[in-house]
Amino acid sequence: MTGARPSHFSPELAERARELVALYPEPRSALIPLCHLAQEQDGYLTAEAMEEVAALVGVTPAEVLGTASFYDMLHTEPVGRYVVAICTNIACMLGGALELLEHAEAHLQVGVGGTTADGLFTLEEAECLADCDRTPCVQVNHRFVGAQTPESFERLVAELRAGGRVEEIPPHGTLVRVRRTIGLAADPAAVAAERAAEAEARAAREAASGDGGGR
Ligand code: FES
Repeated sequence: MTGARPSHFSPELAERARELVALYPEPRSALIPLCHLAQEQDGYLTAEAMEEVAALVGVTPAEVLGTASFYDMLHTEPVGRYVVAICTNIACMLGGALELLEHAEAHLQVGVGGTTADGLFTLEEAECLADCDRTPCVQVNHRFVGAQTPESFERLVAELRAGGRVEEIPPHGTLVRVRRTIGLAADPAAVAAERAAEAEARAAREAASGDGGGR
């Protein structure tokens, strides 16, 4: 059978993926932004998405997996619509984080790392989230929701279950509402010329160092 494999990305995201790759002198520099793009579409990094990202930046799918599995914000397994992170680092621990985490596990009926049966919530224990003056600190989909008590946590869960806070907390994987435009408007010919000039300069440097070594 011949012909290109259909893109895993939607047409809109496939276009954004191409724009992202064009932003960087080296395509592989777009690896993490592309992972976020895939996660925004699917909620986590599927095997198909990792294959496509690998092809776009010229690495192997294993390298994509190796990179993605290193970062907390990237998920290589399905997660809930809401990823709830409770910080248990020292300031939050002193503010009742362990009690809150225990309460959250009981209330959601999942352990840390688990996802509720309805697929809505994944519970995570986090290291310092840099909001140490509001303890215990909780994030939902990487949005700060302020210090929580067991009671306010239950209210928060109920609100999210009922479809509240949609503006404040978009589905997991959505990083930003405002798209970057600087650089995306770059003239493709100018980018290609810049890359060619860089390649030429690199080749010249390599040739020069080779000459120097021969003297
Ligand atoms: S210790 Fe929890 S946010 Fe810093």
